[in-house]
Amino acid sequence: MKKIGLVEYYSKEKIAPIRQDIADLLAHRRRRNRLFQGVGIRADWIREKKIMEVGPGAGFNSIILAEARPREFVLVEGNPTGMKETKERLRKHLAHAPGLKLKFWQKNLMKLKPEAQFDMVFCEGVLSGVVELRHFILRLAGWVKKGGILFISTVDELSYMPDTLRRILVQLNLSSYSNPYSSARSFEKDLKGHFQNLPGMSRPVHDWIVDNAINPASNLPLYNIPEIVSLLGKQFDFVGSWPRFVEDWRWYKELTQSRSQFNQAAIESYWRKCHNLLFYGPIHPERPAFMNQKLYQKAAAVRRYLRGWENHRSFGNLVRLSRAIREFGLHLPVAATRQARFVRCFSEIILGDKKGAQKLFLDPTFKKWFGRGQQYMALEKVAE
Ligand SMILES: C[S@@+](CC[C@H](N)C(=O)[O-])C[C@H]1O[C@@H](n2cnc3c(N)ncnc32)[C@H](O)[C@@H]1O
Repeated sequence: MKKIGLVEYYSKEKIAPIRQDIADLLAHRRRRNRLFQGVGIRADWIREKKIMEVGPGAGFNSIILAEARPREFVLVEGNPTGMKETKERLRKHLAHAPGLKLKFWQKNLMKLKPEAQFDMVFCEGVLSGVVELRHFILRLAGWVKKGGILFISTVDELSYMPDTLRRILVQLNLSSYSNPYSSARSFEKDLKGHFQNLPGMSRPVHDWIVDNAINPASNLPLYNIPEIVSLLGKQFDFVGSWPRFVEDWRWYKELTQSRSQFNQAAIESYWRKCHNLLFYGPIHPERPAFMNQKLYQKAAAVRRYLRGWENHRSFGNLVRLSRAIREFGLHLPVAATRQARFVRCFSEIILGDKKGAQKLFLDPTFKKWFGRGQQYMALEKVAE
């Protein structure tokens, strides 16, 4: 079956299910500024710069970028509904910012020829819904000028795993599909019970369900930080990330090579610690990279088999998915005993009756199990 991405899905359904609660605008500003600071950049670098945002969605984060007073701000959004909401939101919030040069390009980025002309390019929450991911990342990087910054977020197979399990239960119990919001309704109560355990959740639950559990573009192959850093490594240096997991104990005076080797430090740190992306909670001690690489492969296999089953819902494909889930559970860190028990039980129960499977939503371990969602990164373009 043909894979579809976010632009196609949102455009077809005429939705932009990415609202945030920004009633407390001060708190929203503070969150955004802390995020920039966390990855090693500052909002005041934007002032008088030429910046681009790809995939503003409905423009909630664009407000903060615009408030930082860039010289020129280009917003590229492929979904007409999202672009309309972005324009309206910027107009409403920036009524008092005369002279700000905003450009709205309602286009798919893949249809634009990159010109390395921006000081900063922002792309957040987009990669997980792109079909030609490798090509897209290279395109995106092509818009950053030398010395400029690429600010990008990704979701990977580990950080998304608890939500992948939520998706499986929703998909098992989806009755006839009419429109995404009416389909989401029957899962709202169960998932509210989960999200009340997630401090800082600023999205409406029905948007979350549509976007993560129903949206076909949320089940595409993903790129992790090492994959992005390696892909862009010839041109970009890793500046920082959120969460901050990179350790580099070299003496700065030893850093005399022409390139910083920050990319290598990021990749090595990631593989020793990435099992922590699976759990939003206490940090587990690092483990050998090969164990986490195995765990990652097992997580990727779960989503691969999930795609197989979503494309063709045969019992055989469900059995293959169940086996992949069980295998993944066998590679969890030893301290994650509760989650390992839950995963085993999950892999068995989904083969039985669907209503029984929906009861898994009520499992106390599952209700509190969140991964670390998106990882954010800043990269500096050091070579053309
Ligand atoms: C999940 S939303 C994220 C919105 C916002 N950046 C955020 O983090 O809340 C991703 C947005 O990227 C847009 N998008 C995805 N691929 C795109 C592409 N190739 N060209 C332009 N827009 C794209 C989608 O239409 C969608 O509005």
